[in-house]
Amino acid sequence: MSILVTGGCGYIGSHTVVELLNLGKEVVIVDDLSNASAKVVDRIEEITGKRPSFYQQDVVDKDGLRSIFKKEQIEASIHFAAFKAVGESVQKPGAYYENNIMSILSLVEVMAEFDVKKIVFSSSATVYGSLNPSPYKEDMPVGVPTSPYGQTKVMCEQILRDIYISDNNWSISLLRYFNPIGAHESGLIGEDPSGIPNNLMPFIAQVAVGKREFLNIFGDDYETQDGTCVRDYIHVVDLAKGHVKALDKLNQAPDVYTYNLGSGQGTSVLELVHTFVAVTGVDIPYKMAPRRAGDLASFYANADKALADLNWKTEKSIEDMCRDTWNWQSKNPNGYENQ
Ligand code: UD1
Repeated sequence: MSILVTGGCGYIGSHTVVELLNLGKEVVIVDDLSNASAKVVDRIEEITGKRPSFYQQDVVDKDGLRSIFKKEQIEASIHFAAFKAVGESVQKPGAYYENNIMSILSLVEVMAEFDVKKIVFSSSATVYGSLNPSPYKEDMPVGVPTSPYGQTKVMCEQILRDIYISDNNWSISLLRYFNPIGAHESGLIGEDPSGIPNNLMPFIAQVAVGKREFLNIFGDDYETQDGTCVRDYIHVVDLAKGHVKALDKLNQAPDVYTYNLGSGQGTSVLELVHTFVAVTGVDIPYKMAPRRAGDLASFYANADKALADLNWKTEKSIEDMCRDTWNWQSKNPNGYENQ
């Protein structure tokens, strides 16, 4: 039996596939490669010694999915495939609602046809919105995210809760990620953003490798210890391991399980930059810039529930995250391109 991983060639998906294969699980990747490279499959094989099945396929296409479910023995799905650029979602809300909502609907419909009723869903801390105080806890009311991207996460969570209400045989895990950074310690897989990175760590990494001149720090007048925004950064390998634990939990009993996957620790933008410089020895020139619209001063997880229920907690430090990001970026200055 195999685990279907949609978006398995992407940043978090690829790291999760590695953890699954290392535990001896069979994996089927479905990815349309709209924001990922097929080279990832080779890299996963290089790391694990095993090659997952791979289908270049859009999850929205139900007939395409059906033919995969006919060929493969799928026992559960992990659904990563989605559009994820916050700023772009403000510019193109229709595309985000259509792709992210249609893909989950398509996937669960085909899963149900094949009587596969276990799913882990990639959600985000953005579902807590702007009004809940940190640390965020799973039993807080879902808020109003500031972007269509965030709204699609709220909606997909709700769709999955409603599916469970309609059919109690489903076993569903909603994983709310905080800020994943870092890369596999081999340096063979990592984050490969297209164009100018929107997120902090990929931008730092591109400054470090000489692709960008300096980092803009968006705001130094927040009510935080040094004035810059505070986030809960989590190493992508810790995050990937959280998926494996969440998947195991689905075998215990049908239900909807919701977990924060974060460290519980806040780190400011300046602290992250200074740690990166200290760990790598590479200077990161930066300039203070105006606040970015929609940013919150500070948020981080209460990660107690994942520890109690899944026996999962983060193990890697901010230093590990910086070292592994730099290892990946320096070995792959252009990501998966031209290699
Ligand atoms: C963003 C998304 C969030 C998504 C997450 C994925 C927004 C508003 N939120 O979170 O919905 O789930 O990515 O990881 O985009 N920063 C700089 N300079 C930069 C880039 C970022 O100073 O060039 C700062 C930001 O102002 C922020 C912090 O770094 O304070 C982290 O930013 P980022 O990595 O984009 O993550 P979030 O905004 O927390």
